[in-house]
Order: sequence, then C-alpha cells, then structure tokens
Amino acid sequence: MNVLLLGSGGREHAIGWKIAQSSQIDKLFIAPGNAGTNQVGTNVDLKINDFEGIGKFCLKEKIDYLVVGPEKPLVDGIADYFAADKALSKVGVIGPNKEAAQLEGSKDFSKKFMKKYNIPTAKYQTFTKDNLEEGYAYLDSLKAPYVLKADGLAAGKGVVILDDLDKAKEELNSMLSDAKFGDASSKVVIEEFLDGVELSVFVITDGQSYKILPEAKDYKRIGEGDTGLNTGGMGAVSPVPFATLGFMDKVENQVIIPTIKGLKAEGIDYRGFIFFGLINVRRDPYVIEYNCRMGDPETEVVIPRLKSDILELFEGVATQTLSERDVLFDERTATGVMMVSGGYPGEYKKEKTISGLTGIFDSMIFHAGTKQDGPTYVSSGGRVLCVTSYGKNQEKSLAKTYENLSKISFEDAYYRKDIGFDIPEPKK
Ligand code: AMP
Ligand code: GLY
Repeated sequence: MNVLLLGSGGREHAIGWKIAQSSQIDKLFIAPGNAGTNQVGTNVDLKINDFEGIGKFCLKEKIDYLVVGPEKPLVDGIADYFAADKALSKVGVIGPNKEAAQLEGSKDFSKKFMKKYNIPTAKYQTFTKDNLEEGYAYLDSLKAPYVLKADGLAAGKGVVILDDLDKAKEELNSMLSDAKFGDASSKVVIEEFLDGVELSVFVITDGQSYKILPEAKDYKRIGEGDTGLNTGGMGAVSPVPFATLGFMDKVENQVIIPTIKGLKAEGIDYRGFIFFGLINVRRDPYVIEYNCRMGDPETEVVIPRLKSDILELFEGVATQTLSERDVLFDERTATGVMMVSGGYPGEYKKEKTISGLTGIFDSMIFHAGTKQDGPTYVSSGGRVLCVTSYGKNQEKSLAKTYENLSKISFEDAYYRKDIGFDIPEPKK
C-alpha cells in the first residue's frame, strides 16, 4: 500500500511512525512533514491546501490512502475534491467530507446537532450582528464565567472565556460587529460554563460502525499548574485515571452512539476520526467540542498505545468493514511532554540546534517544529518535539519521559514539569 499523510506536526510524526510499522506499507509520503516524519517516510513539498497538487501526486505515486492530519483541508473539502474526480475517487480518504467536518468547522452546526440528538453539552444560543442586543440579554441571564465561541475555524483562538459581564459584552460586540476573527465570528455561540476536568476521547468510524481508541488528557496552558496562555498543547497522558469503565460506558452510550446514529440519520457519511472534547462534570460526560481529526499532542500518546495495524483500520474505514477489524491496545501508560521554544505561545526564535536526540532508546521522540540542516536538527516552530514513554503506571512513564527530556536541549528550550499533576493514579 502507498500512503500520503498530510500535516507537519507531532501528530503526523506519530501517525507516520505507526503506518511505517504496518506489514502492508510499501511507500509512505508526508506532505509537508517535518524532520521526524522524514525518518519514517519521505517528505513531499506540497501544501496541505493545494488540492490539485495533492491529487496529481496521488495519481503519480499510485496512492491507496490519503490520511488527513489537520482539520483545515477537511473543512475545506479535500474529501469531496477526491470523491468528485473519477481517478481520485479510488483513493481511500481517511478524514470526513466537508459536510461531516462541520462538526468541527461550525460551532453552531455542532451545537444544533447535539441538541437534536440529545447529546449532553452546555446550554447555548447563537447570535449574529443582527441580534446583538439579544446576545447581551442572553449574557445577562447567565452566570460568570461567560463562554463565547466564534462559529468557524479561528486557528484555535476562537473561544474566549471571561469573568466580567461588561468585558463579555464588549467581546461579543468585537466578534460580531468588528469581525475580530474575520468570517469565523460572523456567528457567535454563547454557552453556559461547565466546571470539571477535560479529557479527549477518539473514535475511528467508517460511517456504519466505530472503534474507540484509548482516551487521553492534554495540558493546554503554557505554565505549570495550568496557568498562563493557551498553547497547542504541552503534554498528554493516556489512560486517564478518572475515565473508569463506568465513566467510559456513559461516554459510549450518551455521546458516541448518539453521535454516530445522528450522523447517519442526517445522511452524513462520516469516515475518519472523531475527536470528542469532553468535560467530566460530577462524573457525567459533556461535550465541549467535536474535532474532525486526531488531537495534538494526544496522538503522541494514543497511537503508541494502539497495537493493531493502523492500515488495517484505514482499510476498514475505506471499505466500510471496520466492524470486522480488531482493535487491540497496549495496557501500559503512555505520557508525552512537549519541548517548546522559549517565548512560545508568544514570540520565539527558530533555527536553534537541537542536541541529545541520538542515544535515547527507551522513549519515542515525535518531532513537531523541526527541520534538518545537513546532519543537524534545528527548531522551526513553537512546539518543537514531544518525548513519549511507556510505563507500568503514570508515575513510571513520566519518570522516563522527564529523564530523557533532560538529555535533549536547545537554546531557551522549555517544558512543563508537572504533566499529569492533577490526575494522579490511585496507588497500585
Ligand atoms: P474549544 O475550542 O471549544 O475546545 O474550547 C477551548 C477551551 O475552552 C476548551 O478546551 C475548554 O477548556 C474551554 N471551554 C470551552 N467551552 C467551555 C464551557 N462551556 N465550559 C468551560 N470551559 C469551556
Ligand atoms: N489537543 C487539542 C487539539 O488537538 O485540538
């Protein structure tokens, strides 16, 4: 099998690493990739929004599966582009079509969907600039903190949570009247604040059946103790100690099954990953958001725990035979910690030489913002790399991750030293 994987982060290195281990893989290409993906396959200089270029490449290299890492090409309709072309329609696209990707691409769509199919989520209303006054009145009716969400994709920045009512009204005005997030905030969802601990649950579906992958928790804030600015994600652990069998049973019955059934009832053919961003409110799961892709850095701990051949699962998705496939997991804990450039998520420097990458054998190093400069690896982004380790439990896994992180360095490198701090495992 030949595979083209789109994306360039730690998520894509982890997925590529797994694809490369498949007994069925012939050629693996990653576009545009990073220095890590080039170790498990061949990087191709193609932009993820260049559908025409991607299509031509797929035909030239006889690609069997196009695996789409990030949301943007999915929301922009790459699956539809492939489906509409006779030759390209033979390529199995792992990732939903444009309509299905609305689960992530439009907060208003996903909230309506959840309401219609009785999927637990925060209560909400949607506003445009034509009913701004009603938006203010709705804010008046809620208690602080106030949650405002730009409807469309806003590079992870479209959710604003404020404690002050007047500031929330100002924010609503700036999103709707001043197009703070451009078109993405032409509609704004205002919702009730939910108090609890978040976790991420992943499902792969062929539109008929689904398989649940290991759950994970990610750490979004830059500072220890979950303080400071939001980032793309600073680390992740899997499994999540509070995701007990009882809790996961609720997740499956109250969230996953109604979602899959709802998609079918809407006539939406969803093929790919669904990422359920959940929050545990007094032991009940509520959906904070859907994403139409895997999470990053969750993938860097979830994929290492998948024992089954990932290409078998992709084949199941493409041929709608997922129900016949086995999904086996590694019982061990996996923890991953991101090493980032000093200053991130604000301004930071690139092109810093990374040392200590060779000689680490008992952890995996998933590259995110890296590139190769001759024989040296240099940083090329805010999140630079993720060190992931297995362990008998969270404590042992984290100890190994931190030990190996301490061997890697570049100028002004930073990482959180408290990943997993809030969810210690009960002593075994
Ligand atoms: P989203 O992009 O929808 O995942 O939102 C970004 C982050 O905002 C989430 O990961 C949560 O931490 C937080 N958030 C979003 N909606 C809510 C809510 N209704 N209650 C509490 N926190 C929320
Ligand atoms: N880790 C959260 C995300 O990928 O959106």
